[in-house]
Amino acid sequence: MTRIIDVSLFCFFLFSLGAMSQPSQNLTDCNQFPDTYQSNRNTVLSTLRNHSSLGSYYFNATAGLSPNTVYGMFLCIGNISKTSCSNCVHSATLEMDKSCESHDTSFMFSDECMVRYSDNSFFSLVEDSPATFSYSQNDSLSYPQFYNQTLPGKLDELILKAPSSFSSPVPYFVEDKEHVTQVEGSYDLEAMAQCSPDLDPSNCTVCLGLVVEKFSECCSQSRWARIHFPKCLLRYDISALQPNLTSLGVTTKGDDIFGRTFIAIMIGLLMGL
Ligand SMILES: *[C@@H]1O[C@H](CO)[C@@H](O)[C@H](O)[C@H]1NC(C)=O
Ligand SMILES: *[C@@H]1O[C@H](CO)[C@@H](O)[C@H](O)[C@H]1NC(C)=O
Ligand SMILES: *[C@@H]1O[C@H](CO)[C@@H](O)[C@H](O)[C@H]1NC(C)=O
Ligand SMILES: *[C@@H]1O[C@H](CO)[C@@H](O)[C@H](O)[C@H]1NC(C)=O
Ligand SMILES: *[C@@H]1O[C@H](CO)[C@@H](O)[C@H](O)[C@H]1NC(C)=O
Ligand SMILES: *[C@@H]1O[C@H](CO)[C@@H](O)[C@H](O)[C@H]1NC(C)=O
Ligand SMILES: *[C@@H]1O[C@H](CO)[C@@H](O)[C@H](O)[C@H]1NC(C)=O
Ligand SMILES: *[C@@H]1O[C@H](CO)[C@@H](O)[C@H](O)[C@H]1NC(C)=O
Repeated sequence: MTRIIDVSLFCFFLFSLGAMSQPSQNLTDCNQFPDTYQSNRNTVLSTLRNHSSLGSYYFNATAGLSPNTVYGMFLCIGNISKTSCSNCVHSATLEMDKSCESHDTSFMFSDECMVRYSDNSFFSLVEDSPATFSYSQNDSLSYPQFYNQTLPGKLDELILKAPSSFSSPVPYFVEDKEHVTQVEGSYDLEAMAQCSPDLDPSNCTVCLGLVVEKFSECCSQSRWARIHFPKCLLRYDISALQPNLTSLGVTTKGDDIFGRTFIAIMIGLLMGL
């Protein structure tokens, strides 16, 4: 497992759209005597939680009659494990359980999952907010060739592939890992794109169009970026550049590492005897 956990990004980004003001209710009271909307909401959150335990990466739930109908869904990032997905949905829904505004909309996007509910149906719609963007700044100085050639091509490839990947193990999720070698050096490029399965393929394309637009505005010079719209997302990560030792004329360095590895193996073998 080579998971790199970026703690600062793992913190939940909480968007309580209908609830930007601080909750004024007494939380305990509120959960003790829930109104109809709150109890529908609790049913939705509980359904989402239960389904995440069954190993899905996406689920939608609806509860209650108008005007107290609550619509909810969760979506996990396609490259995490089922256990991480379930853990993420559990903590997000439990967090939402604690707040008890009536008739509101709540949206949580963490590094691993997105959970939301609303009194308006949002299924099958492309939405451009709330969105979160994080990216590294002006790294391009050290990688000029890379950014203007390899990266846009790689992202285009994923963005074209995602809408037709509905029946992959995680619907609409595509990823790519590549070791890129150029004259200046080599690096690893990891990238992924994903749409929410409630979108049809053409709206998946529309949503990823928003991503591309954002990418060219914010991130084409960034070594890593995470662009999250409510119904689709894009992430990529480029490792530190490893200088091309051959072109610098320091071939012996490679031999040296090889030699040390060889010695280490020999020692290992001797110790094993
Ligand atoms: C609600 O909050 C008030 C103070 O704001 C407190 O005195 C009261 O005990 C709380 N009620 C419950 C059921 O916790
Ligand atoms: C979720 O599972 C728990 C425990 O099995 C159960 O009590 C609860 O009723 C379930 N929620 C829904 C909405 O089915
Ligand atoms: C695609 O998204 C638009 C805008 O959100 C929505 O109005 C439309 O119904 C969606 N199309 C389908 C086929 O779901
Ligand atoms: C890098 O970005 C920061 C903030 O955006 C800016 O202040 C700084 O001048 C930039 N540095 C270079 C070398 O472009
Ligand atoms: C990429 O950038 C490098 C250096 O800035 C430049 O020499 C090269 O022509 C650019 N390539 C493209 C395809 O824009
Ligand atoms: C190193 O750069 C040279 C050209 O300068 C190129 O021929 C060679 O393939 C590069 N090797 C690696 C490992 O990048
Ligand atoms: C998922 O993919 C993104 C981008 O490709 C990467 O940054 C992240 O580390 C990956 N997460 C896991 C758990 O592999
Ligand atoms: C909601 O989930 C059900 C399965 O539980 C599925 O049949 C339906 O297509 C989903 N609706 C949307 C809008 O994703």
